[in-house]
Amino acid sequence: MYILGIETSCDETAAAVITPDRRILSHVCWSQWEDVARYGGVVPEIAARAHLECLEPVLQQVMKEAGLEFSQLGGIGVTAGPGLMGGLMVGVVTAKMIAACHDLPLVAVNHLEAHALTVRFTHGTEFPYLLLLVSGGHCQLLLMESWRKYRLLGTTLDDAAGEVFDKTAKLLGLGVPGGPALEKEAQQGDPKRFPLPRPLIHKPGFDFSFSGLKTAVRHLVNKIGEEALTGQTRSDICASFQEAVGELLGRRCSQGLAYAKEEGIELKACVMAGGVAANQALRQKISVLCDQFGLSLTCPPISLCTDNGVMIAWAALEALQRGEETSLDFSPRPRWPLGE
Ligand code: KG4
Ligand code: ZN
Repeated sequence: MYILGIETSCDETAAAVITPDRRILSHVCWSQWEDVARYGGVVPEIAARAHLECLEPVLQQVMKEAGLEFSQLGGIGVTAGPGLMGGLMVGVVTAKMIAACHDLPLVAVNHLEAHALTVRFTHGTEFPYLLLLVSGGHCQLLLMESWRKYRLLGTTLDDAAGEVFDKTAKLLGLGVPGGPALEKEAQQGDPKRFPLPRPLIHKPGFDFSFSGLKTAVRHLVNKIGEEALTGQTRSDICASFQEAVGELLGRRCSQGLAYAKEEGIELKACVMAGGVAANQALRQKISVLCDQFGLSLTCPPISLCTDNGVMIAWAALEALQRGEETSLDFSPRPRWPLGE
């Protein structure tokens, strides 16, 4: 059974075809980086138009590379939320049309659930696992107990993890996407040079907060002046910022692992997923903490951390294998929390 996944919730037009034995037949992803750089961020209306232009050629390419016709598919998954309404509409209408024309089962996929389940495709990870979901729009800690039983432990009170990387990168005059640019710049930096705040780190509970950190970097840049935007000083600011994010995320992971232990839940893994999970320095920091609990940190390969069609196809396949299918009259959901 071949499953097609379609992703258009933000600024990537992506599609992929996978099989139940966890093979990728084809995987195409077009990013709108030029638009994002030109307008200083994702503009919903412009992103929607780009999806409208790109989705058809992306689908043609993905089917050609898979060597398949639509009629040979066993099902389709499409991101139905959360995300930007214009982009979601483009993906959902297209997916419904293909499903109706070829009489294929369709699954309306929750984008967050797709990030959350990706390691089950890439590593065969079994439930239960602790999940740190860190993307451009979200920062959440979840206990993935079993299929559709996801306990939300904590979430961000202000910015998402990727958002704070992007905003800080922009402030420091780095390119887009901000996360990878900041990570690269931090490689030559001294993480101890600037003592930046770690909001909420000693507070009980599992919630995250990044706005105080973001503001502290802004104040630092204002204080240092031009020098903050070049050379070693900029690298040191990036490394110090990344170190602070790492400690914040790591602290909540440790607490989550300790909590699961107290509850008598025998976790199979600690998972980090979403775009920010592509960051090698963060992975390293968090995997040391997981080791202390006798667990390994599992992350999707970098190409499947950021938005992609493979994860959407996989989430659809997991649903179809459990007899779940969505009727064609569903509407996209710009807000669609996990663990509701
Ligand atoms: O999961 P994703 O592709 O989109 C959402 O669902 O939001 O995540 C995109 C986010 C962006 O904010 C991007 O800057 C961040 O992930 N990101 C990174 C890295 N690669 C992508 N952040 C830090 N380090 C990276 N290497
Ligand atoms: Zn995402």
